[in-house]
Amino acid sequence: MTYLSSALLALMQQDTPKPKVPESPHFWMPTSSSTFAEATDWAFDFVTWVSAVVTIGVVIAMTLFCVKYRATDRSKNEQPTGNVDHSNVLEIAWSVIPLPFVIAFFVVGLQGFINMRTPPKEAYEIHATAAKWSWMFQYPSGYTTNELHVPKDRPVKVIIEAQDVIHAFYVPAFRQKIDAVPGRYTHAWFEAIETGEFPLFCAEYCGTNHSDMITKVVVHEKDAFEEWLEEAERKEEEEGLKNPVAYGETVYKQAGCATCHSLDGSPKIGPTFKGLFGKTERFTDGTTAVVDENYLRESIEDPQAKIVDGFPASMPTYKGKLSNNRLRALVEFIKSQK
Ligand code: CUA
Repeated sequence: MTYLSSALLALMQQDTPKPKVPESPHFWMPTSSSTFAEATDWAFDFVTWVSAVVTIGVVIAMTLFCVKYRATDRSKNEQPTGNVDHSNVLEIAWSVIPLPFVIAFFVVGLQGFINMRTPPKEAYEIHATAAKWSWMFQYPSGYTTNELHVPKDRPVKVIIEAQDVIHAFYVPAFRQKIDAVPGRYTHAWFEAIETGEFPLFCAEYCGTNHSDMITKVVVHEKDAFEEWLEEAERKEEEEGLKNPVAYGETVYKQAGCATCHSLDGSPKIGPTFKGLFGKTERFTDGTTAVVDENYLRESIEDPQAKIVDGFPASMPTYKGKLSNNRLRALVEFIKSQK
């Protein structure tokens, strides 16, 4: 039985290829794929079952009392039944019996909270940037991807920032979630205990394409992770030098351009890249310009400088986010979209 939200996710996946949701052994939880998962689920189940038992008890008692004390004969029952004000035994009982349970909720919750908010010192650090509407992950070497790759059995600390509005980093299979807030760093840590691919969501409504802000976490075996990273960097460098257009396409996908700029001529949040180069664009201030390399570079680094008429001024800046090689390749790629 897979967990409930996999059905919802499947609906969301209809038009865009998104991560496969791994089969879960639980009814309403995703797979338990981090060191936190078991304790978090235990706390959740504990609170849920205690609440369920209490709710059932209250409803049964209420029903019995409704039947037992119902007014059968108005003339007899309209009289007050003496001095019923309170019962010490009852009041002490209903205060003392729940006490250990609420203390247990607090202790279990606090332990979990402290654990989840305290990354181990030796954790592997990855920087994450959330922007409308994509994720960018940067590894210690500076290499960036828009899927999060991590090693198994090693604590990973993700340092998170937001470029425009509040987003939230959420990996259900790891039971970890934290807001990404503009103007400050937040962090989330986890230790994956199985390899595979797990959905990573933006869990804070952040505008039109919030529901598209889905990517995945790929968990590699420890050694395989190092190999993956080395190989990915080597390939990127090679491609970048040999074939700037193909490299530019990678950048187009990785940097999140694809969310707002189509390649088939259809307008999305921003203008399409098809036939863009060499075209004369009209801007909201009434001026026009021919799209050349410098216009493209400016639009990537300082998107608010010229706003194409009919489109919102919603693009975040990529200044400092893309290396010179990547920027050049991206411009070559846009030029190639005839
Ligand atoms: Cu980013 Cu919702």
